[in-house]
Amino acid sequence: MNQSNGPRPFDVEAIRRDFPILKREVRPGVPLVYLDNAATSQKPVQVLAEITRFYRDHNANIHRGVHTLSMEATELYENARQTVATFINAPDPRGIVFTRNVTESINLVAHGWARKYLHEGDEVVLTEIEHHSNIVPWQILRDERGIVLKFIPMLPDGTLDLDYARTAIGPRTKLVSVTAMSNALGTIVPVADIVAMAKEHGAKVLVDAAQQVPHMPSDVQALGCDFFAFTGHKMLAPFGIGVLWAPVELLDAMGPFLGGGDMILTVTLEQSTWNEVPHKFEAGTPNVGGVVALAAAVDYLSSLGMEAVRAHERELVDYALRRLGDVPGVTIFGPPDADQRGGVVSFDLEGVHPHDVGQVLDSRGVAVRTGHHCAQPVMAALNVPATARASFYIYNTTDEVDALVAAVEETSRYFGGVSV
Ligand SMILES: Cc1ncc(COP(=O)(O)O)c(C=O)c1O
Repeated sequence: MNQSNGPRPFDVEAIRRDFPILKREVRPGVPLVYLDNAATSQKPVQVLAEITRFYRDHNANIHRGVHTLSMEATELYENARQTVATFINAPDPRGIVFTRNVTESINLVAHGWARKYLHEGDEVVLTEIEHHSNIVPWQILRDERGIVLKFIPMLPDGTLDLDYARTAIGPRTKLVSVTAMSNALGTIVPVADIVAMAKEHGAKVLVDAAQQVPHMPSDVQALGCDFFAFTGHKMLAPFGIGVLWAPVELLDAMGPFLGGGDMILTVTLEQSTWNEVPHKFEAGTPNVGGVVALAAAVDYLSSLGMEAVRAHERELVDYALRRLGDVPGVTIFGPPDADQRGGVVSFDLEGVHPHDVGQVLDSRGVAVRTGHHCAQPVMAALNVPATARASFYIYNTTDEVDALVAAVEETSRYFGGVSV
């Protein structure tokens, strides 16, 4: 399972055997069909074993100890930084900052970079399809600093209005902060085009890659962005571990975020000086076990190859769009073409509230998410209160798509909807 061994064949049944939870029944005789991967992924035995191994054999606090366990834990932690850097083609592991999740990574940029460099009247350009975690930190900053927020609107098919983006991004733009893939609709955003627009005006670009890194190849150097944020629990790792990448010089030029142990070089009662990056942004005892597990998750994904992961999900979403699209009363939101979307299918069943859809699906073992998906502006643009969302990952199969479709048809019958 080492990257240097090259990808293993993409064998979905073999992959499924690595995920014990997929053998579960949610109640007697009702097997789990887990289609809530945009919310969080399941964890393979390789990652679970790494967590156990760390706490069983190496557990110690890092960076401060001279004893064997502390040095081993430090080495595992710093090696993981290199593994993650390689995975997103970051040129220097010191550009990898470990955080709790993508939300914290974005807040880190808002505190450490934007609070230092943005002034009244400076513009930050976002999009209408952002997760709340890439809207709220900027609204807080707007209220505090008087910066101006602009939003690239969503077109009816769930893609972005790039003509508007060309006019919105201008000389006053200091930051463009965009999702690489909408968690609510699956829209794959042409981030490289947006980076090009921003760079014409010298603006920085933050990419919320929470839905990209788990599902397709990532290359921060090819992308040319300035900040790249993602979250471990959506990519086979445990909760509580996230990443912010930025070039070392940019991290160097930023102010600190959280203050405390490990992020300092010296402390007197009068003042403190900051540790070198990335430690300047890793205050307090970090989630060492989570970092080690994240590296194991990256190794697992690398062993499959991210091109193969994308191809598998593309096939599933293409199949799901066709099968679900044939069910009377179903409206599918987002781009019609599987090439333009990740493994996410958000839909409405005529006459049935999405929460009811979710409950009937659960009675058939099918786990989907219902609600606003932390993207209320997307719901407002679609003029719906909520959607039901099925989202796929490496271990999902076309049989599971069939189970979803059968359960949606049953829901329709149960509520006396459009006849199927
Ligand atoms: C695009 C996107 N951004 C941000 C987040 C927030 O992730 P976390 O809660 O791990 O910080 C999510 C989670 O659903 C997401 O899909």
